[in-house]
Amino acid sequence: MLRVCVIGLGPIGTRHARLYQADPLADLVGVCDIDKARADAAAAECGVPAFHSVPEMLRALAPDLCSVATGGYEYSSDHYEPTMQALEAGCHVLGEKPISNEIPWAEEMVALAKAKGVCYGIDLNHRFTPAAELAKRWQNEGRLGHLLFCNMSMWIMNPRESSPWFQIKALHPHTIDVMRHYCGDVEAVQCFATKAPGRRIWSTAHFSLLFKNGVVGGLTGSYDIERGHPMERCEVAGTKGRFVIDDMFREVTLYPAGDMEKRVYSNPIFGGMRDFEDTFLNRIHRFLEQVSQGVSPEEIDGSGADGLAAQRVLQAAIESIQTGTVVHIQ
Ligand SMILES: NC(=O)c1ccc[n+]([C@@H]2O[C@H](COP(=O)([O-])OP(=O)(O)OC[C@H]3O[C@@H](n4cnc5c(N)ncnc54)[C@H](O)[C@@H]3O)[C@@H](O)[C@H]2O)c1
Repeated sequence: MLRVCVIGLGPIGTRHARLYQADPLADLVGVCDIDKARADAAAAECGVPAFHSVPEMLRALAPDLCSVATGGYEYSSDHYEPTMQALEAGCHVLGEKPISNEIPWAEEMVALAKAKGVCYGIDLNHRFTPAAELAKRWQNEGRLGHLLFCNMSMWIMNPRESSPWFQIKALHPHTIDVMRHYCGDVEAVQCFATKAPGRRIWSTAHFSLLFKNGVVGGLTGSYDIERGHPMERCEVAGTKGRFVIDDMFREVTLYPAGDMEKRVYSNPIFGGMRDFEDTFLNRIHRFLEQVSQGVSPEEIDGSGADGLAAQRVLQAAIESIQTGTVVHIQ
């Protein structure tokens, strides 16, 4: 069993702590938040010691693995310091998305994990579902043929106004990651954004994407629509077929080209995913599994490098809005 600590005990870190407690591959040994009340509440609930300083916790417990679920400006400025501290101490780290709001910080974290030879994963949970895995299997079996296009959309309500780029930086690590998962690296992006009535930030956006392998894609996302109905859709098409994933895990449909019969996987009533929280459960379990199996850091699914690649696309999208041009990814 891996000895695990959780850093940052907001709603998301507290969820990580509960999921580690329930996972047979993990032994939750401590929690840390600079907000004493939050650390103490999570510690009392989980029956583990509370810490209010990351270096102190790392010295006292020497965990194998840390989750970093801090937030901050653009939901990510606070990730850098505790991530660097945990990596420096030789821990494997599972960080929350976005990897960072600043590309140079993300690059430093990825580089330090590499130098230390430890596994660094990001909670890109939307692709850790049976439906998304089945779609990947169909793709690997050649059922899509030569890839042509990808259409993705995701919309939720998030009324925060912390930064003009909040929606682009904090919502779209997920969507870009899912698109990269099926279509590979992005070559160029053009982005248009708009503001819902009363909003000051670019709360809705559309991206046109060109992938390095020639695939073309469109992504639309919004922080302006209340939850309730479906909220995410991913369509990937090739010369031999097309799949559509609805709501990450609810359903995936394969439409073979020239064949009037489609193939549908629906989330089962018994033994299926219960709700969105199960995307965290699956993602955390996969990280624990890969670390336990000694998978090499480059092979980690949803790695720090994936998180960084997604953030580079989003930074290019921001530059596209600012300049009104197509931006090529460095
Ligand atoms: N993967 C997903 O689907 C998903 C969904 C929602 C949010 N998130 C991400 O989860 C993260 C956390 O979200 P939240 O709503 O729980 O945030 P939050 O702001 O409520 O909580 C973050 C906590 O981290 C603590 N913290 C900050 N710096 C610290 C440090 N150096 N040491 C110890 N504690 C520190 C803060 O005191 C705070 O209690 C964000 O990055 C967000 O983007 C992911």
